[in-house]
Amino acid sequence: MGQVWQAADRVAEGIIEDTNFIELGVAPACLAPGQTVSEHSHTLVEEINIFKSGKGQIQIENDFFDVCEGSVSVVPAGEFHAITNTGTENLEFVTVFNKNVVADDVDFKNREQHFGLNELPGYLSILNKIAAGEAGGAKAFRSWAEKTDNPALAEVLTKIAIREAEHSAAFEKRLCELGHAVDFSDIDEATCELFACLESDGSDMEKLERFAEKPGQRDPFAGIFKDTDIDPETGALLGRFIAEERDTVRMLRACHAEICGKESPSAAMADTGVTLTQVCEAVTSLTGLVGELKDEVAALKAAAAKPATARRKPSKAKKSA
Ligand SMILES: [Fe+2]
Ligand SMILES: [Fe+2]
Repeated sequence: MGQVWQAADRVAEGIIEDTNFIELGVAPACLAPGQTVSEHSHTLVEEINIFKSGKGQIQIENDFFDVCEGSVSVVPAGEFHAITNTGTENLEFVTVFNKNVVADDVDFKNREQHFGLNELPGYLSILNKIAAGEAGGAKAFRSWAEKTDNPALAEVLTKIAIREAEHSAAFEKRLCELGHAVDFSDIDEATCELFACLESDGSDMEKLERFAEKPGQRDPFAGIFKDTDIDPETGALLGRFIAEERDTVRMLRACHAEICGKESPSAAMADTGVTLTQVCEAVTSLTGLVGELKDEVAALKAAAAKPATARRKPSKAKKSA
């Protein structure tokens, strides 16, 4: 733990001997009023500051000590510290390190490095992409829902827009809990292009076809859980997100199939494997059969229209009588 002794204090020799000075590094320093030796730590180096003149403050971890002429501070290796001139005159001091500070093994860290802010789990970037992408998705699906004149599709799109907005908020909340703000500009080019299409005045069919299954298409979520560092709470959130995103795609494909059935018989036939040529042949054949039936019906009608006498031969028995 960091300690500071003032000139008036009686310093026990034993305390100073707790430090591990083998090879000294010495650095005289002078801070102008308001100037600071910014926050840092060095895991392999202990540091003693001997204040010669002026007034200042030294921060060691979460403690703040006022210093002036005669103050001595000890900063154990690895403890986070900073020195600021809080007075109106220069703050002069000498820093003594227990190693040569220019040696390669000195490990200086700034605030972010000291508190591990630069050693973030890799999946945080995925959480950020989801939070940003889902916010964009919410806006795009809402816009599409407002443009379509198909009420059933509008209902599905509104549900998806609400779901996307909730995903974005949930991931933003998780990132906040992990100590991070969302960068909402973190959306890749292809996704931006998709959103622009959904928000355009294009047809519903054109937009729905963007979600059609394509040959060789890979699952965009397949690799997420390869990261074995994902904490359980984030993992649960990701699991729900993936299941809902897959459900969203199923809903959009069902809408596509529904509209295909109504608007495009040829598309519906494509699902059955029947070709247009086969249909033409069948229609030609049916037309021929209808023609033959017409001829037969005409012949029957003509036969029925002949006078009864012409159709009935006189009885031989009656004739002889
Ligand atoms: Fe230092
Ligand atoms: Fe989404």
